[in-house]
Amino acid sequence: MRTSTAPWWRDAVVYQVYVRSFADANGDGLGDLPGITKRLPYLRDLGVDALWITPFYPSPQHDAGYDVSDYLDVDPRFGTLADADALLTRAHQLGLRVVVDLVPNHTSDQHEWFQQALAAGPGSPERDRFLFRKGRGRGRTQPPNNWTSVFGGIAWEKLPEGPDGSTEWYLHLFDRTQPDLNWRNPEVRAMFADVLRFWLDRGVDGFRVDVAHGLFKDKALRDQRSAHPSSQHVESMLETDTKDEPMWDQPEVHDLYREWRRLLDSYDGDRMAVAEAWTQTPARTAAFVRPDELQQAFNFAWLLAKWDAGDLADCIRRTFATLDPVGASPTWVLSNHDVVRHATRYGGGKVGVARARAATLAMLALPGSAYLYQGEELGLESVDVPEELRQDPAWFRTGKVWRDHCRVPMPWSGARPPFGFGGRKQPWLPMPSEWAALTVQAQTGKRGSTLELYRKALKVRRTFATSAPREVEILDRARSVLAFRRGPVTVVLNAGKRPVALPKGKVLVNSGRLADGKLPPDTAVWIG
Ligand code: GLC
Repeated sequence: MRTSTAPWWRDAVVYQVYVRSFADANGDGLGDLPGITKRLPYLRDLGVDALWITPFYPSPQHDAGYDVSDYLDVDPRFGTLADADALLTRAHQLGLRVVVDLVPNHTSDQHEWFQQALAAGPGSPERDRFLFRKGRGRGRTQPPNNWTSVFGGIAWEKLPEGPDGSTEWYLHLFDRTQPDLNWRNPEVRAMFADVLRFWLDRGVDGFRVDVAHGLFKDKALRDQRSAHPSSQHVESMLETDTKDEPMWDQPEVHDLYREWRRLLDSYDGDRMAVAEAWTQTPARTAAFVRPDELQQAFNFAWLLAKWDAGDLADCIRRTFATLDPVGASPTWVLSNHDVVRHATRYGGGKVGVARARAATLAMLALPGSAYLYQGEELGLESVDVPEELRQDPAWFRTGKVWRDHCRVPMPWSGARPPFGFGGRKQPWLPMPSEWAALTVQAQTGKRGSTLELYRKALKVRRTFATSAPREVEILDRARSVLAFRRGPVTVVLNAGKRPVALPKGKVLVNSGRLADGKLPPDTAVWIG
């Protein structure tokens, strides 16, 4: 039911918890749900409104939990359903909302449906829940079409031949252990409606919809014209809208989100969903947040913007230009578990961290919801994980370093790894010893630390986030300075090489030291 006040998610700061790497209560080297519950007061004190938890469902963990074998339970590695309930209860007591990850594009190959499909054979209703097809060419030895996997290589896996010599292939847009579901099959739709209800009934406040632009594929699974690498995570959102992508962003997906919206709205408490949709243009992402569809979509254009004041200003302008017509409120995000941490993207080292702090401060003044990724509040950078310890399936399929670097566990306290992450056991990915200076303990109460900057910014944000006007007036068009006004707050970010004069007013928060009333390079400030 709609109320006249804004729903909680509209201006929420949502903190992404990467379950494997947040906190390890049982000391086995892998994060878990009781670990998160124990650390909830930290999130409350940080000043966020909600947490999004990455998948904790039973899974063989070939893609760190994004290969789900049972949507209605908790993987014993991460705890039990009772632990999930305890987490929800405690979070709600502390005034924190909880968003869980929903993975509807594919299951694990260990999901009972896929196992049944393998056993049932070609033409069976069991196989129709996935995308099985015959091969092409002489002897049908070629894959059914020319699609490639986001994780590299062809997007089809060939099954062993049956007794009559016939065989089928199945589609996997990600790893071969992640078969894509057939969303044109009504059983799939019904199953996921049950999954949504199951978690809503347990009290979750929302869902982060994984690969939300996937799900439906071109009906005929036709070849992709002009083969190019699958666009997810690479060169997307570039305003080209010209690539032929029969595997992504098909119109049928929007009807499904209308159905899910009705389901969400049938519960009280403004339950919501946020789409992970790496579409080709921001305008296409806006289609996912039309008034009767999902409430939010990640604004990846912000994350892809360069360290360039003009680029950042353009992104802000374009965000409003694409969302205003559909009446949606924006989101902002700089880091997550799939991309290089923003401190590293902006150059790394002292400069990278200074820029990351400045970009975050600018982001937190914008209207709408902000998504933070665990560890960015400590100024963590992406880490070079030794080859023999890498776990990312994309690394195994392509030999390219992609995501392990941003998934290294959180340093909480102490002088040596594992820095209070769990027991004595070293965590699943090694932690750099230099993080001793970056632990939560080391930064708490320390003037100028990144953690204290986040705490302060989030505290001050609360004084205007919901009440200030939603209009943003961009004040400066120079390539080196991003300046904008939002009601009582003026934001200046110096992406240039020289100090710039500050506007008049009281300094509310500054991401770095100010010198003689000037804003040094790689620094941002809120003036009130
Ligand atoms: C999303 C997730 C990513 C995962 C992929 C397949 O992009 O964020 O981590 O590998 O979907 O589920």
